[in-house]
Amino acid sequence: MSIRPILIHPDPRLKKLCDPVSAVTSDIGKLAEDMLETMYDAPGVGLAAPQVGITKRIFVMDCVKEDGEAPRPMVLINPEIIAASDEMNTYEEGCLSIPEQYGEVTRPKLVTMRWMGLDGKTHEDAFDDLWSTCAQHELDHLNGKLFIDHLGSIKRQLITRKMVKLKRERARA
Ligand code: NI
Repeated sequence: MSIRPILIHPDPRLKKLCDPVSAVTSDIGKLAEDMLETMYDAPGVGLAAPQVGITKRIFVMDCVKEDGEAPRPMVLINPEIIAASDEMNTYEEGCLSIPEQYGEVTRPKLVTMRWMGLDGKTHEDAFDDLWSTCAQHELDHLNGKLFIDHLGSIKRQLITRKMVKLKRERARA
């Protein structure tokens, strides 16, 4: 396993509609392992393949936060939402590609997703609260959408300018 560099917004690879994964090859298995390691190292609760420069429909997440609770790493390939609650939830979201910036995003409180697992089989599960928000945030990434695209244009532009500055500073360092 290895930690991969995380792309920082703005980057054209973060704006792309990602391609479906046709089969779980050893490359996909390696990518998923690296993504989990990269996510835990960051640390974060979710990471999508385009964030490490791979424009394929795959994301990882683990929203277990309570101390002492066992990690629950999940790998979702070609995920889709098959049901969403009318009830909404607002969370202050952040993103590993937009470090230290946060914004309130309202999304369905409960979603049911279907995806292909690393076992090549179809899985289905319902996600609530933080898991639901995280899964929807990561699915957005696969469609070239960031959480700041849910914010007003003034806040979005402000955050984007900060990221341009951050990238400039990092390039100089
Ligand atoms: Ni993100």
